[in-house]
Amino acid sequence: MIYLDNNATTPVDPEVSDAILSSLKRDFGNPSSTHSIGQRARDVIEKSRMLISELIGCKSAEIYFTSGGTESNNLAIIGIAERPKRGHIITSVIEHPSVLNPCRYLESRGFQVTYLPVDSAGMVVIDEFKKSIKKDTILITIMHANNETGVLQSVGEIGAIAGERGIPFHIDAAQSTGKMPVNVSQVKADMMTIVSHKFYGPKGIGALYLRDGLELSPILFGAGHERGLRPGTENVHGIVGLGKACELAKMNIRNRVAHATKLCEMLFRGLTEKIDGIRLNGHETLRLPNTLNICIHGIDSTDLLESIKDKVAASSGSACHAGQRKPSPVLKAMGLSDVDAMSSLRLSVGKDNTEEEIKEAVEIIAAMVKILNLNSK
Ligand SMILES: Cc1ncc(COP(=O)(O)O)c(C=O)c1O
Repeated sequence: MIYLDNNATTPVDPEVSDAILSSLKRDFGNPSSTHSIGQRARDVIEKSRMLISELIGCKSAEIYFTSGGTESNNLAIIGIAERPKRGHIITSVIEHPSVLNPCRYLESRGFQVTYLPVDSAGMVVIDEFKKSIKKDTILITIMHANNETGVLQSVGEIGAIAGERGIPFHIDAAQSTGKMPVNVSQVKADMMTIVSHKFYGPKGIGALYLRDGLELSPILFGAGHERGLRPGTENVHGIVGLGKACELAKMNIRNRVAHATKLCEMLFRGLTEKIDGIRLNGHETLRLPNTLNICIHGIDSTDLLESIKDKVAASSGSACHAGQRKPSPVLKAMGLSDVDAMSSLRLSVGKDNTEEEIKEAVEIIAAMVKILNLNSK
């Protein structure tokens, strides 16, 4: 089985699972307990906080642990909006549902939301973004890398404009952290979402970077964990796993970028040589090094993936809603027709993929496209 679905999730690195297992056995104390068993658990949490901060270039006190990307995004968006209790929010149409749905929720509570469109390369247009800023804009939330296309937004530019106006800027960096260098000062984030299972850590754990001095309201209510922002006894072994994943990412980021770039190029070249009518979806260069989203003319990508599901794992350009296949809203927002979106395929490589696997995947996909094409004639 060749796993090319690393944007959905990644396998847990063996060093991460070893760290989790020993922590599960060793650090069973409650980190809020004052005795030494509790304090040992507290110490490993603080070590992980430091490892995350070192990966993204912030202070360790600016990291808050959550249950993952969905919660970090909800906390950033609703946590900001809870303060003025009204105002205007800017986001984009290609955000993950864990950003779009809190925005829709706030809309239903009387907030105004601008959903910026994207151009055919999948990018938010800076001029349109500038025009959308209002006097009462309380938050800008734009993703770093899109999960489907890998396209990178101009977050540094957006953040600089937000900073000049004193508007908090949140970045959903679920897909970019650990896959490429991400530094909070460079991307000019006031808040940033980090998701462990997208870069070889465990699921159900994530973090929110919150710039020192920026006030946020909690969205869960309980005891005073995470300095009152996120109550609940900490997921100690998950936090240890996330910390280890960050440590490994920091050490290996250059190799990961180089490896992913090489494999993606091989994949694209191999597929275009063997299959007619392939088009790349999204910006040619401003993209994650590991993500290839392609449209294969005349093919239903769901049928294709179904036919090779025991050999190659990847994702299609459609999603199932209430038993009906719907084209991806992200691809539609870039101007793709329903048919082209349904013909699109997301291949996302990871650090453990090999060149041999890529060659084999090209052969398998090309052979199946040939069969499907013949069948459709
Ligand atoms: C861009 C983006 N944001 C947020 C999330 C949500 O992460 P989780 O499902 O771990 O809560 C994902 C996961 O697919 C994602 O790709």
